Amino acid sequence: MGGIPLFPEAASSFASEVDALYLFIVAVSAFFTVAVSAAVVFFAFRYRRKHPEEIGAHIEGSLPLELLWSVIPTIIAMVMFAWGAKLFYEMRRAPAESMQIYAVGKQWMWKFQHTGGQREINELHVPVGRPIKVLVTSEDVLHDLYFPSFRTKIDAIPGRYQTLWFEATKPGRYHIFCAEYCGTKHSGMIGTVIVMEPQQYQDWLAGGGSEGTMAERGAKLFNDLACNTCHLDSGQGRGPSLKDIIGKPVELAGGQTAVVDEAYLRESILNSQAKIVKGFTPLMPTFQGLVSEEGLAALIEHIKSLSPQAAASTPAPVPAAAPSTSTPAAPAQGARR
Ligand code: CUA
Repeated sequence: MGGIPLFPEAASSFASEVDALYLFIVAVSAFFTVAVSAAVVFFAFRYRRKHPEEIGAHIEGSLPLELLWSVIPTIIAMVMFAWGAKLFYEMRRAPAESMQIYAVGKQWMWKFQHTGGQREINELHVPVGRPIKVLVTSEDVLHDLYFPSFRTKIDAIPGRYQTLWFEATKPGRYHIFCAEYCGTKHSGMIGTVIVMEPQQYQDWLAGGGSEGTMAERGAKLFNDLACNTCHLDSGQGRGPSLKDIIGKPVELAGGQTAVVDEAYLRESILNSQAKIVKGFTPLMPTFQGLVSEEGLAALIEHIKSLSPQAAASTPAPVPAAAPSTSTPAAPAQGARR
């Protein structure tokens, strides 16, 4: 597809399939548009009234014909549906071994945070050939994180985490757009995703994160906000223990259960009364407005680090690259905060 002008390069694992489905739908639509238009014009001439007194022939319906033009379109529509549904599920379910990145949309910029602690604005560095899961939210209004070359996007909704994932297939620099009108500088809310070879990415990682990993920053915040005074590891505190809870069901006071994931933790911090763990009193204050999106993400990473065996999406940078001490992680140094 890269050869077609105006068509973005295809640089993710599912890009070519998205293009194939897109072309299939366009081709089917174009075929029938042309066929129906041609038939309309042809019949208008062929069967036009030739004498003022002419009366049209009486035509009975035809069952085989009715069946034919009901069944064929149904099959074609079902192919589109099944293909689309399969691709949709593929694109919506991040593989368990994905590397996680946090993204926050804000009028008018994209802020990215790596679990290793590196932060970027309007730039995102990722390794090639590795599934990347991006947890997306917004600090103000609706935005939409869009990677045209990866053929994927997701709304950034204030107060909620949305997930998008991709696996970049070739190193390079690709566009990041905001695909939801969000105010006067919406069109300027753009950035670049830089896909690097694993070794290069490793070097880039080594050049940042001086404030510690997200989990470390989260641990500090956990103490600063005095979360540690109630959430004791022993489970004897006023709040439930946060050890080994990720991915597990938890029984709530109302009798329902909830599975602990990022969205659950987010809600429990910001709107602490929403879900009370069975056996505990709703004592926890709400932290709405007291923690930034970055702080919240750090707290979540800290809590996730307390569940080591569920660490699927936690730090684990790129597999065993030889330790490089010499290479400076040049490019985006300046873009970090
Ligand atoms: Cu943000 Cu448009």
